[in-house]
Amino acid sequence: MNTRILVLHGPNLNLLGTREPEIYGATTLAQLDAMLVAYGEELGAEVRSLQSNHEGALIDALHAARIDRTAGVVLNAGGYTHTSVALRDAVVACGLPVIEVHLSNVAAREPFRHVSLIAAVAAGSISGLGTDSYRLGLQAALRLAHDR
Ligand code: DQA
Repeated sequence: MNTRILVLHGPNLNLLGTREPEIYGATTLAQLDAMLVAYGEELGAEVRSLQSNHEGALIDALHAARIDRTAGVVLNAGGYTHTSVALRDAVVACGLPVIEVHLSNVAAREPFRHVSLIAAVAAGSISGLGTDSYRLGLQAALRLAHDR
């Protein structure tokens, strides 16, 4: 049975490909998810992905991951990265290795994006590499899942 990894996309990431493509790239969310499923198969991972614009739905997904045999999480919390104590608490509560990812280099953008409430409770963070941030995040989540 392949190791299950949850890829969680936060608010506005449903618009990938058309939203500020100069920052977030031309790849759509469907293309990104398909690419991650294929890459996961190569690595021996079963990738499940979920996007929501709602903080509570993202929190519910992390709670579900505690009990449904998910072994690691790749999380792009979008704008909630910089604001959500509740999402941060859910990252801790899920008890799984969570890799924080961002398409853009948040450190090189507006000051409010320099603060991540997720970073300190994530196993690691990858930012600025476009869709490669997710690919590397998947690799890292899988490695940590196997090491547990
Ligand atoms: C993002 C960066 C966030 O600051 C922003 O709010 C997003 C996307 C990224 O992937 O680069 O929605 O998480």
